Amino acid sequence: MSGSLPDGLAGEQPDRTGLRWADPRTPFTWRGWSFGADVLRFGGNESPYPPPQELLDAIAAAADRMNRYPFGMEGSLVEALSARLCCSPEQVMIAPGTSALLEAVIKGLGGPDREVVYPDTSYPAYRGTVTAVRAQGRPVPLRSDGSCDIERMADACTDRTSLVIVCNPNNPTGGMAPTRNLRPLIDVLPAGALLLIDEAYWEFTDEYADGGRGALDYLECGRPVLVARTFSKFYGLAGLRVGYGVAARQIAGELHGRLRLGGTNIVGIVAAEAALGLTEVFAERAERIKAERGRLWQALASLGFDPLPTQANFIFCPHADDELPSKLMAAGYWVRGGASLQMPGGMRVTVGNPDENDKLLAAIRAITESG
Ligand SMILES: Cc1ncc(COP(=O)(O)O)c(C=O)c1O
Repeated sequence: MSGSLPDGLAGEQPDRTGLRWADPRTPFTWRGWSFGADVLRFGGNESPYPPPQELLDAIAAAADRMNRYPFGMEGSLVEALSARLCCSPEQVMIAPGTSALLEAVIKGLGGPDREVVYPDTSYPAYRGTVTAVRAQGRPVPLRSDGSCDIERMADACTDRTSLVIVCNPNNPTGGMAPTRNLRPLIDVLPAGALLLIDEAYWEFTDEYADGGRGALDYLECGRPVLVARTFSKFYGLAGLRVGYGVAARQIAGELHGRLRLGGTNIVGIVAAEAALGLTEVFAERAERIKAERGRLWQALASLGFDPLPTQANFIFCPHADDELPSKLMAAGYWVRGGASLQMPGGMRVTVGNPDENDKLLAAIRAITESG
């Protein structure tokens, strides 16, 4: 008898019926949608650009060692990251994707008698993991510009709050609370609570372009702050699963002790370090993505979609026709329908390269004009 899962474990799982992970070039289906090689992807907030040759060479060299466990191999990536971020190696934590870091933090700090404050609507892993560990969720609605409402998040904290999560810029909306505006939240952070600032899209922001350090500025503020970033977006390594967290030395030490991170693979570690060495190449790509973001945003606005302001590599349109994403999918364009992001009626579009964006806009025009 197979029975069913105990209450609390059964919910929140995405429907992966028919999903096959094999070769990404192999067509696969998900929720009845076919992701053939001919489908243009605007649904995953991925980079539209393939890896540079130098990165492929580094990956090929690393693959040569795949018969070995990656014990101790993170050290060199940690050194490279700490040099770039101007912090000490002890402050850096590597994880197999930022999502693994977020989940470990929520599992480590959440629990039935604890409260977790997080933005709503935001990255689904927050709510999903909070529910899975049976912590008390305190979702705080976004501001109308799609950014986290820092004041209301501060108001939502109680003495049972163990974790506050800010997503900046926020996924799926793209809105960003200026980093300097986080201060009042830090000032009222309950004793023993951690502030986790998820900056997965940091390198697409104006603050980054202006030479800012984002929430790293708060690491030494005397309160427990953890900044989470990823190699998946700006560095285009989504398929290799490497993310990282940075905290003050003592906080990082405690989190390391509690969270049992690790599990990143040899190829990912080597690729991430090589990618760091190519930051200028990726910065130039990010500039191109940002230029396209402006163009796509204007085009969507002129088509009447009323897109939200964005500081990320995607654009959210709150008032799209609910059926538009599936009509686009049928035409070979994967965008993210708001219903799957808990924002029914909306549509999230990842910025592609100029040619892809032109094709998507033409498809949207054709569908909307045909009624
Ligand atoms: C806000 C946010 N945080 C974290 C992640 C996860 O990133 P990773 O690929 O490093 O797991 C994503 C991915 O889309 C995201 O949007």
